[in-house]
Amino acid sequence: MKVVVTGAAGFIGSAIVRSMLRQFPDSSIVAVDAVSDYYDVRLKRANLASLKSDRVKIIEADLWSMDLTGLVEDADAVLHQAGQPGVRPSWGSSFATYTRHNVEVTQRLLEALRTTGSRARLIYASSSSVYGNAKSFPVSELDATAPMSPYGVTKLAAEHLCRLYSANFGVPTVSLRYFTVYGPGQRPDMAFHKFCKAALLGHPLEIFGDGTQIRDFTFIDDVVNANLAAMTSTADIDGGFYNICGGGSISVNDTLDLIEDYIGKPLSVSRGPAVPGDVFRTGGSNEAAVKDLSWKPVVDVPAGLLRECDWARSLYSPGA
Ligand code: UGA
Repeated sequence: MKVVVTGAAGFIGSAIVRSMLRQFPDSSIVAVDAVSDYYDVRLKRANLASLKSDRVKIIEADLWSMDLTGLVEDADAVLHQAGQPGVRPSWGSSFATYTRHNVEVTQRLLEALRTTGSRARLIYASSSSVYGNAKSFPVSELDATAPMSPYGVTKLAAEHLCRLYSANFGVPTVSLRYFTVYGPGQRPDMAFHKFCKAALLGHPLEIFGDGTQIRDFTFIDDVVNANLAAMTSTADIDGGFYNICGGGSISVNDTLDLIEDYIGKPLSVSRGPAVPGDVFRTGGSNEAAVKDLSWKPVVDVPAGLLRECDWARSLYSPGA
């Protein structure tokens, strides 16, 4: 089995490749990443170094300009994790980066799958941000989508492209709507990584808003397993989209208490204004994924956050 993983130097992409190496011993993996400088590229280089294997071919290239035909024509699956992440920085002139890397790249991949007649299923990394401020919780895939950030608009647009290439041309696609993914390896611009780092280094920390906002945090291993379940599923799931969530709903303030407890040091917290684009609450129903993908989350926030704190300690206080 030949699997293409895009965004393989990133948090989720690299975790998927490592898991593929363990769980699918007969697989070969093409790991693609542009190694952009959205965050410290040393972290991405370290992620790529962790993928070294005879079974992994690493391609450093931008999906927006590289030839995708050769990449996908003999693939059995494409796990498309590449994209421009970050809800809050997606305003203003940055938006062009989001449309290019989230919408246009996904369309290029879909075209390559269509024109080569590849039967590879494309698993698209979508986002809970497609829902915006939902009217009631938990949100199901049948509820309205109304993103609150430009980032969310691009994630939803690319999800629609997946659905319509499936409907019009029979390109097999499945979109997975991730809800705030965390755990060892998390991106350094995300909340838990920043909170753990601040606690360990004694740095001040800014909370956006009053900290009562709620997230349905999802542990990295659960997200990896959702991808592998969608990749191997023989159920009638093509063209579908699934909430990948259910690890635990918790407020940002409550996560600060857990981190102080786990790291054993007080946090110096200031509270600033809420940031445009941030929704107050996310919370999804994972019933459809449980039923159709035979997947369910197994790591709750207290257990998963402890693992992220231990990992952060190895980064920010080595030898402790
Ligand atoms: C995350 C990812 O960054 C998106 O790529 C993903 O698509 C999205 O989840 C999703 O689930 O749709 P976000 O929920 O904003 O976005 O994740 P975090 O950056 O971990 O933030 C969680 C909460 O902590 C937010 O309410 C945010 O405002 C807050 N926060 C974050 C702070 O108060 N201070 C910070 O320094 C960072």
